[in-house]
Amino acid sequence: MNHLLRKIWHVPEHAHTPESVYQNRKSHRREFLKLMGYGLGIAGFADLLSGCEQATQEEIEQAGAVEPLPEALQSVYPAKRNEAFKYGRPETAEIEAEEFTNFYEFTGPTSKEAWKYVGKFQTTPWAVSIEGDCAKPRTFDLDDLYREMQFEERAYRHRCVETWAMCVPWTGFPLASLLKLVEPKPSAKYVAFETFNKPQEAPYMEKSGPGTWPWPYTEGLTIQEAMNELAFIATGLYGKPLLKQNGAPIRLVVPWKYGFKSGKSIVKIKLTAEQPATFWNTVNPGEYGFVANVNPDQPHPRWSQRTEWMLGTEKRYDTKIYNGYGEYVGGLYTG
Ligand code: MTE
Repeated sequence: MNHLLRKIWHVPEHAHTPESVYQNRKSHRREFLKLMGYGLGIAGFADLLSGCEQATQEEIEQAGAVEPLPEALQSVYPAKRNEAFKYGRPETAEIEAEEFTNFYEFTGPTSKEAWKYVGKFQTTPWAVSIEGDCAKPRTFDLDDLYREMQFEERAYRHRCVETWAMCVPWTGFPLASLLKLVEPKPSAKYVAFETFNKPQEAPYMEKSGPGTWPWPYTEGLTIQEAMNELAFIATGLYGKPLLKQNGAPIRLVVPWKYGFKSGKSIVKIKLTAEQPATFWNTVNPGEYGFVANVNPDQPHPRWSQRTEWMLGTEKRYDTKIYNGYGEYVGGLYTG
């Protein structure tokens, strides 16, 4: 074990990575292992322990690259930034958000390096159906979305339930503007999100098999949360289409909630009268409930939520209620 631990801290020289970024990338491994308290069994953290070879940004981006958009649609990137939203902190280095990800379909719980496992994942063609309690259910393919929606860039803070955080610029459009196209009925009280289900393209999904995890990954919001102006559908990150590991080709971003509420690689959005089951509520009914807002006063059963650390840095901040977005969403939770 000592030998393995020494390997974690030993980061070899790397020709293309400046020292500051290098040191920081070492720190996210350290912080993550500290948080987990080695509780899941240290041997399980295969990637975190394996030699710590540092990939370049180019390698990570190539591994997660999607097929280029048709030329007519490429002008969407970079989209104009909506200046109403500010991080209030330094932006996270791009390589951090691309290298350190949560995507259980590819890695399960023991690695953060989905970029190594997304090679077989096909993100074109792709369609998203919007159905359930609405007057005009419809299936949108990617072209429809790119042609019909108004794209913008939003600088959002992101907070994972595991206490890591980042500040990143998403490209996309408000979820509300998409839902309005299908005309939700008054009976629609919830919005359920279902993500892709292709085990043959996602190694951990395939390996874990039926009866283990409740695939596909699902999440949900109340209709009021979904219509809030912060709820955002992202197709891009850092001014270009999403990489596979970040949820290509289309994902949700709800920055006042823990990151697990923001499903990646969505294929279905369903308006429902009943609260939908979700992946994590099925796996761990005793942990955070359906609402799961960022909240420093509600600890996780195994760790505090009082502070958070920014990916790739040693910087810690106090956690804020609703991740600091109370002026937008506080009114949703009175009483
Ligand atoms: N969506 C799917 N389909 N599968 C996942 O494992 N993980 C969630 C969320 N969406 C997850 C998912 C969690 S826990 C977080 S914190 C965010 O994605 C992380 O997004 P990022 O990896 O792009 O930073």
